[in-house]
Amino acid sequence: MNILRTLTLASALCACAFTLQARPLDAIRRDGTLLLATEGQYAPFNYFQGKQLTGFEIEAAELVTRKMGLKPQWKALGFDALLAGLQQDRWDVVIASHAITDERAKAVTFTLPHYCSGGVIVALSPTLRTAQDLAGKVVAVQTGTSYLAAVRRLPGSLSVKNFPTDTDARSALLAKRVDALVTDRFVAKELLRKSPQSGFQLGEMVTIERIAAAVAPGNTGLADAWSQALKATMADGSYARISQKYFQEDIRCPESR
Ligand code: ARG
Repeated sequence: MNILRTLTLASALCACAFTLQARPLDAIRRDGTLLLATEGQYAPFNYFQGKQLTGFEIEAAELVTRKMGLKPQWKALGFDALLAGLQQDRWDVVIASHAITDERAKAVTFTLPHYCSGGVIVALSPTLRTAQDLAGKVVAVQTGTSYLAAVRRLPGSLSVKNFPTDTDARSALLAKRVDALVTDRFVAKELLRKSPQSGFQLGEMVTIERIAAAVAPGNTGLADAWSQALKATMADGSYARISQKYFQEDIRCPESR
């Protein structure tokens, strides 16, 4: 009975420690492993090649993690679940092409951005290129992305359809269930490069964004260590090498050049 009570109490305390406190840097260092979460459905940034998680962000995060003297351990989850898991201390870092937005910055702490990009209009028709062209049209975005707000801000009434993944939004466009979609410009460029026969046309950009990793709110020790390590990969040529490999250009933000 007593043992049971002690165990219950201990697990209650543990659960409490897990939910209330993100792992600070020294706890992570003692453990030696950094727990990273991503989506795995967003090529060429984070995706699966068979069972293997890969992509620019996966390689960049592993460079950064090793610079920090830690071993990376990955979890792949739905995009929606990623930032919430930081507050619940389910993982230490999220890296899944999140733009730094004021709203997100209330809930998580962002690191130095690892690239700069923006949302671009993709359509099957060359007449749908600009924000004005989208008036009265149906536009697809991935649920939980910054593109929803970006599309809503556009002038002219249009309707937005949410899809669980970016690839679902793409399928809807191919099936002509929507008129256009908004996705990352590098994702769109890669799409065109890989399937030039798809008929996808790239239009205007509707947002400019700085993309960063995120940690639990206020875990600045971890965020700073990540940012320093990221800077080091940008200084030693290793960041440039993987950026060239995936994009044939260096996609770091202007402030990091
Ligand atoms: N950059 C956009 C945002 O901040 C899209 C990110 C989508 N990421 C992903 N892994 N599907 O919301």
